[in-house]
Amino acid sequence: MAEYTHTLLITGGAGFIGSHVVRRMVNLYPQYRIVNLDALTYAGNLENLRDLESAPNYSFVKADITDAAAMEELFAREKFDGVIHLAAESHVDRSISNPIEFVMTNVVGTVVLLNAFKAHGNTKTGRFYHVSTDEVYGTLGDEGKFTESTPYDPNSPYSASKASSDHFVRAYHETFKVPVVISNCSNNYGSHQFPEKLIPLMIRNIQQCKPLPVYGKGDNIRDWLWVEDHASAIDAIYHGGRLGETYNIGGNNEWKNLDLVHKLCEIMDRKLGRKPGESAEQITFVTDRAGHDFRYAIDASKLENELGWSPSVAFDQGFEKTIDWYLENQVWLENVTSGNYQEYYAAMYANR
Ligand code: NAD
Ligand code: DAU
Repeated sequence: MAEYTHTLLITGGAGFIGSHVVRRMVNLYPQYRIVNLDALTYAGNLENLRDLESAPNYSFVKADITDAAAMEELFAREKFDGVIHLAAESHVDRSISNPIEFVMTNVVGTVVLLNAFKAHGNTKTGRFYHVSTDEVYGTLGDEGKFTESTPYDPNSPYSASKASSDHFVRAYHETFKVPVVISNCSNNYGSHQFPEKLIPLMIRNIQQCKPLPVYGKGDNIRDWLWVEDHASAIDAIYHGGRLGETYNIGGNNEWKNLDLVHKLCEIMDRKLGRKPGESAEQITFVTDRAGHDFRYAIDASKLENELGWSPSVAFDQGFEKTIDWYLENQVWLENVTSGNYQEYYAAMYANR
């Protein structure tokens, strides 16, 4: 049997970002034994990780992070050196329809994991890494960027639940000396993202000649980061981030939603052999998201200066690759949008 130097638990590894983090860690660190724990909710999909099934240093556990007895038993058995915690309810619109689920998974689930790591994890040389969002800082006007010292000011049930879980992680560091680190990242784009989120939802609707539902006037601004650059930042912070610290992660790549959708339409026209402007005719302005944050922008200089991280991919290149991935993976797209997706879509968009 191989001798492993480190046992790492990654939660939420069957989701969008988690699958990229798991793949990176399994491939780059063959000396680590990596356990991916995921409840396989609507957002979790083992198809995202088929290529890793035969990797000797990888295993999967289907479990719910809110199940304290199961987590206690798993952590007592595995004695994890470290945890990278990504499991969460992640979609803002769903948090507006059903806030309680977000409290359960994002807040209670995180505290359950902290308790299990505190009791059984390697708190001497290991660490508990909480992957969080820039949405905890609230919203910006036209100017300025979020820094690590921006006060928390969450506006949606999703961001309130992530802010709360960040606070619990910090509190476990202060109160119980659990070694922790937190990162807060802006919007990710890339392969394997569930098509409830803006970019894959629009790609699918363009292909199917359905309306492209832009919330409000499409003036809201997001900072977009290639998901693999988020994964490389997580790797850098897991290995080199200072304990008790927070690191902001961003792409320095702000887009107004409507401009982004227009850019996507132009590329899709070219790829689908449509005439210029054809896909953009599908743009439909719909009722705005309640409490819709206007703008997010990240100052990632702490991460860049301390750990030498920077995004590796220019947006044009990453965006084109992303679109190609969805066009080439129609079976994946079909599979994840059959079943419950139809009900979700009707409830969210039918009378908007
Ligand atoms: P996702 O919704 O694609 O994946 C979440 C994963 O967590 C899924 O595999 C799901 O099955 C799993 N999960 C949900 N509830 C669970 C539970 N109770 N027990 C175990 N597993 C459970 O989310 P994502 O977009 O990949 O986001 C991952 C993390 O990164 C989240 O914590 C999110 O807040 C954070 N984040 C996301 C973004 C983004 O742009 N998507 C940006 C910054 C931070
Ligand atoms: O900033 C990081 C966050 O980015 C993460 O913490 C979240 O998990 C992730 O979902 C994402 O949140 P957003 O709400 O910004 O992402 P979403 O893709 O849902 O929406 C992006 C923007 O597009 C937002 O301003 C709302 C708008 N939008 C979204 C959808 C789904 C539309 O105009 N129409 C849509 O149909």
